[in-house]
Amino acid sequence: MSNFDCKNKFKPDTEGTYIKSFKEYQSLHKKSIEDPQAFWYEKAHEFLNWDKSFTKVSSGNLKYGNVKYFEDGYLSVYQNCVLRHKEANPNGIALIYEADNPEEARSVTWLELSQQVQLYARVLKQMGVKKGDVVTIYMSTSPEAIYAMFACSYIGAVHSVIFGGFSSDAIKARVLDSKSEVIFTQNFTKRRGRTIPMKTTINKAIEGIDFVRKVLVYGRVKNIKEEINMKPNRDILLESLLEEFQEGGKYENVYANLQPMSMNAEDPLFLLYTSGSTGKPKALIHTTGGYLLNAALTHKTVFDIRKGDRFGCVADIGWITGHTYIVYAPMLNGVSTVLFESTPDYPSITRYWEVIDKWGLTQFYTSPTAVRFVMSCGTDPLKDFSLKSLRVIGSVGEPIGVEAWNWYFKNVGKSRCYLVDTYWMTESGAIMISAIPGATTLKRGSATLPLFGISPQLLVKNGGSKSIELSMQKKQRKFSEIAENDQSGILTIKGHWPSITRTILGNHKRYLETYLSPYPGYFLTGDSAYRDMDGYYFIKGRIDDVINVCAHRFGTSELESTLTLHPKAVEVAVVGMPHKIKGEAIFVFCVLKDKHTEEMVIKNELKSLLQTSISKIASPEHIVIVDSLPKTRSGKIMRRILKKIVRKNYEVATYGDLSTLLNPDSVDSIVSNVKKIL
Ligand code: WTA
Repeated sequence: MSNFDCKNKFKPDTEGTYIKSFKEYQSLHKKSIEDPQAFWYEKAHEFLNWDKSFTKVSSGNLKYGNVKYFEDGYLSVYQNCVLRHKEANPNGIALIYEADNPEEARSVTWLELSQQVQLYARVLKQMGVKKGDVVTIYMSTSPEAIYAMFACSYIGAVHSVIFGGFSSDAIKARVLDSKSEVIFTQNFTKRRGRTIPMKTTINKAIEGIDFVRKVLVYGRVKNIKEEINMKPNRDILLESLLEEFQEGGKYENVYANLQPMSMNAEDPLFLLYTSGSTGKPKALIHTTGGYLLNAALTHKTVFDIRKGDRFGCVADIGWITGHTYIVYAPMLNGVSTVLFESTPDYPSITRYWEVIDKWGLTQFYTSPTAVRFVMSCGTDPLKDFSLKSLRVIGSVGEPIGVEAWNWYFKNVGKSRCYLVDTYWMTESGAIMISAIPGATTLKRGSATLPLFGISPQLLVKNGGSKSIELSMQKKQRKFSEIAENDQSGILTIKGHWPSITRTILGNHKRYLETYLSPYPGYFLTGDSAYRDMDGYYFIKGRIDDVINVCAHRFGTSELESTLTLHPKAVEVAVVGMPHKIKGEAIFVFCVLKDKHTEEMVIKNELKSLLQTSISKIASPEHIVIVDSLPKTRSGKIMRRILKKIVRKNYEVATYGDLSTLLNPDSVDSIVSNVKKIL
C-alpha cells in the first residue's frame, strides 16, 4: 500500500482545527476507550444543551443489546439544532437549497427555519400526532423535508424518511411495518428536468392501508395540471393547512405556545430502513442523546468544522448519510448545510463545481460512485472553477480505491484539501473510521484510523495460532482477535458507542442475531478489512450477501425473492459484480419455466420488476438465462462460483472443490453464456 503524507500540504489552521495534532488524537482516543464515562460526559456537555442533565453516562451491554446513553437526561432537538443558532445568528444561512433546476436555488435563514419548523410542528399536533408516533416522510431533499423532520422531534414523534426514488411497493412495506398513520409527501419532484410523480406513488403504496389517516402534500412543482388524486378527509394540501396557522388563520393562536418537546435521551429520534443479507429491509432505530452527540462530534472532528462554514454533503436525505451529515450534524454545529436535489450532470457535468464556487462551500462530501462518474468525464469540466473555498473533501459508501482517490484529491482537492475517506454504516449512526484533518497522515485508499469510542477489531473464525484465544461460551462460534498488524479479517467493533442503533423495530431478536450474537462482545459490521503495518484500516467490502450499488445497499435475498415473483422465473440467483462507476452492479442468473420463452421480453420484465418493486438503482446490469444453477446436494446455490464467473474468472479448475455440486455440468454452460456478454 502506498503511503502518502498530505499533512504538510494541508497546513491546517491549528487555531481553528478541532483536533490539533496526531498526539492529541491518540490521547483522546485512548481516553474514549479506557475511560468512556469521563470522555462522553465531557463531550455531551460540550456539544449539547441539556434541559435536564444526566447522572449516568451509559449502561447495558451487547449481550442483551440494551445499551443506553445518558438515560436520565432530557434535551430538546429543536433547541440544539435550531433555536440556539436562530438566537445567535437569525439572519445567517441555515439551509442552501440547490433545487434540481439551479435557477430555483434558494437559501433559508435560521429565523425562517425556526418559523417553518414551528408551523409544521403545529400542523402535526393538529393532525393528532403524539409522542412516539411514526411519521413517514417521502419527499425530495428540500427545505420542506427538513421542516418535516424537525417538526417530528418538536412534538416527540419519530420520523421514517423513505428515499424519494423508492417504488410504491417498497413504500408500502415500510408503512405497513412502521404502522405510520401520517405521511408527508409532495405532489411531484424534479429530476434532471423531468417531472416525477410522488403523490400518486404514495396513493398506490397505501391503497387499502386503512390506518393511514393523513397525507400532507407539499406542492413542490407549481402550476401543474396533472392529477394527483386527493382522497377526501385523508389528503390535505400542506400550504393551505399551513396558512391556517399563520396570522389571521383559524389556528393562529391555538398552538402559538406549543413548546418543543424535551426528549429523554433514549427516546427514539428516527427509524431508517436498510437492507440486510436476509429477509425484508429492517427498520433500525436511533435514539436522541447518543446519536446527536456523536453526529456533532464526528462532524466537527472529521470535517474540521469552523464557525461560518458551508457544508456540502450531496447525498439524499433518504439515507443515513443524509440524516446525519446533511441534517443533524451541521444543524447541531450551527453551520450552513446544502440540500442537493439534483445529479452531478444536470443541467451539465459542471454542476457540483458550480455549487461549490457559487456558495463558497468549505467541505464537500460525496460517494466514490459519484467521484468515478465525474472522473469518467475528464478534468475539462473543472477548468473554469477555482474550488478555492474547500478545505476538506470526503468520501463515503464504499471503498474509494486508489485511482478515484488520486483523481479526487488532485482535481477537486487541488492537492491541498484534506481527503477523508469515512467508513461507517446506517447501524453506526455516525462515522467510525476516518482521517482527521491536520492530525492524520493520509494513505491512499485507506479510511485510516478509528474515531472516538470506536475500537475496531479484526476477527478470524476458529482461532489463529498467533492470536489470543478468547474465552468462549459453549456452542458459540470459535473465533479470535487478530492482534497483529498487516492482517485481514472480519471487521467488528468491540463494545458500544453512543450512536449505535439500539434495535430493529419490532424484532429485537433479529437485531441480536444480525449484529451482536455472532461474536459476543463485538458488533459485527458485515465488512472485512485489512490492517496495515501502521494499524491503518483498508475496508475490503461486504462479507455477507449485501450488494453495494452506487453506495446503496441491497440484500441478495431481497432481490431474489422479488425476481421469483415473476411467473416464468423458476429460480434466480443474484450476485454483485465489480463495476467501474457503480462500485458493484447486480448480475442476475435466471432459470425459466419454459425454455421457449422470448428471452428479451422476460429480461425486460425482470428488470422492470426490480425497478418498480424496489428502486431504479436496483436495476440489474446483466441478466443471463441459464438452464440450471450450480447447487450443492442440500440444494444451496453456490454463489461463490457465480461470483468468480462474473469476475471473468472462467477457469473452472480454480473454482475449488466442486464435488459437492449436484449438477457440475451447469458450470460450463453458465461460463459460456456469461463469456458471450462480458
Ligand atoms: C460500505 C453508509 C468502504 C460498507 C454510510 C458498509 C464503505 C456499508 C465506506 C454501509 C468506506 C461505507 N469505505 N466501504 N468509506 N463507507 N461503506 O448503511 O460496506 O448505506 O457496511 O451506510 O457501506 O452502508 P450504509
